Amino acid sequence: MSKADKVFSLARRRGFFWPAYEIYGGVSGFYVWGPYGVLLKRKIRDLWRELFVYNLGFFEIDSPTISPYIVFEASGHVEGFKDVMVTCKSCGKKFRADTLLKEKGVEVEEGLKPEEYLDLINREGIKCPSCGGSLGDPDYFMTMFKTTIGPYSDAIGFLRPETAQGMFVEFKRIYEVFRKRFPIGIAQIGRGFRNEISPRQGVIRLREFDMMEVEYFFDPENDDQFDLDEYMDETLNILHEKLIREGGGEYETLTVKEILERGIVEHKSMLYFMVLAQRFLEILGIPKSRQRFREKLEGERAHYARKVFDQEVLLDKWGWVEVSGHADRTNYDLSRHAKYSGEEIAVERLLPEPKTVYIREAYPEPKKIKEQYPDKIGLVMKELSRYSPSELYKILDENGSIEVDDVKLDKSFFRIVEEEKRVTVEKFIPHVVEPSFGLDRITYAVLEYSYTERGDRVVLSLPAYIAPIEAAVYPLLDRDDLKGVAASIVRDLEMAGFRVFYDYGDSIGRLYARGDEIGIPVAFTVDLRSLNDDTVTVRDRDSWRQYRIEINRVVEFVERLVEGESFESIASSMGLESVD
Ligand code: GLY
Repeated sequence: MSKADKVFSLARRRGFFWPAYEIYGGVSGFYVWGPYGVLLKRKIRDLWRELFVYNLGFFEIDSPTISPYIVFEASGHVEGFKDVMVTCKSCGKKFRADTLLKEKGVEVEEGLKPEEYLDLINREGIKCPSCGGSLGDPDYFMTMFKTTIGPYSDAIGFLRPETAQGMFVEFKRIYEVFRKRFPIGIAQIGRGFRNEISPRQGVIRLREFDMMEVEYFFDPENDDQFDLDEYMDETLNILHEKLIREGGGEYETLTVKEILERGIVEHKSMLYFMVLAQRFLEILGIPKSRQRFREKLEGERAHYARKVFDQEVLLDKWGWVEVSGHADRTNYDLSRHAKYSGEEIAVERLLPEPKTVYIREAYPEPKKIKEQYPDKIGLVMKELSRYSPSELYKILDENGSIEVDDVKLDKSFFRIVEEEKRVTVEKFIPHVVEPSFGLDRITYAVLEYSYTERGDRVVLSLPAYIAPIEAAVYPLLDRDDLKGVAASIVRDLEMAGFRVFYDYGDSIGRLYARGDEIGIPVAFTVDLRSLNDDTVTVRDRDSWRQYRIEINRVVEFVERLVEGESFESIASSMGLESVD
């Protein structure tokens, strides 16, 4: 049994996660996070929020998961968010072409067309993974979930495939709310949806998943907000483009200084987020040696990105798996939304010296257009929104009119602005770097890295600060006096804000085993001696070592453990008596 299979089995048995809709046979790509999974995910999410939002002075928003068609038309997703699929000629099942090839260890060139995928699949002799039939009908498949909004079947909407667009669409408002603070980081944590063709990797590839994303809006001519000085000697494992093209191995370990000097990562902010991402995973128990940053090549990158590094973790069954993406999105998204909405989306940059500018702009006047062309107003405004005010001015200036959908509009349908100005600031559309994390994959990776076995027992060695349950309390015997003491310890711990697992009625060995499987870092056991000297045993999940501790120090013990101090260090500094 692979480690992944063992983790999946533990996850189902102990209530971390399991396939959704099981009683109806399940639907691939949908999973349920159970009681312990929810708690673990929440702690990971809170830690991310601390590192990537609060500590950096960024702000979080919460925008809708359903968007009107135009948002994802403007963002380029309608055009570019698609995968190539092939269909089995015998059973009719559909599969993602690149996944079939990757599963066979075949290197796939970037940007292949559907027919080229099929040629490769046939050349490699790949058959339907389900029935062994031949594969055919290569085609594109758009991986956004479509829906309709309200009772109008033509009001098409999409379930967002990324939270990012919410931050782009709302940027203008946020910029105003924060009185033109710039640069600015905006974060969003929430559901993303992708209608994957044939997901077969459990929680690694979901159709509905949790994302944690930051869009950092900045001036590319002045990317100095993040000081990398103190990180210059920190190393990252990088599989950069040159190394990939030369076939130079899995990665190169480089210092931050070398990465900057060699121009492998251009924006300091992006590198800063990568360093932070590496630390984040280390704090979660995934060592640096099992992480790398892989540069995505031209045809692999999403349509909006100029440069991307995927943070990958080495997993038992699937090899290197992306857990976060670090993208230079330039000003692509904001420019597109400015164009499609007709709104100006820009910030101001102080000029080194004042200069004279000539403003020549034309703004459509919807009222006048509607008076003349009441039936066409919607369409005309939509078409006009594809042009910026200065583009419209230019067209009107050169041709005297503009024609959209059989409607000819001269200058009288526009408000014309012609000004000469001495300015000390200039406007520009911010650039964006984006660190984007997949919470479900990270939670799975954390489970896999904390999964250990001792003999025939499973121990989930989660770092104490992310353990779903912080402490267990057990009466050694099913007796009211012992249960009374145990209950008062549970109360003390709960009052201090901890989640406590309280159980009895089974052998203490079995109780410990159950607690170890859900990763409870410490257990307190009330026994007969407790009734005489107000002490209990305190047991370490990982070493199984035990000490005696005064009941009134139990809360302090858990507090220190959750803050990151080791079990042995707390026991020794408290001078606890060993009972091994
Ligand atoms: N926003 C990054 C992504 O969707 O992958």
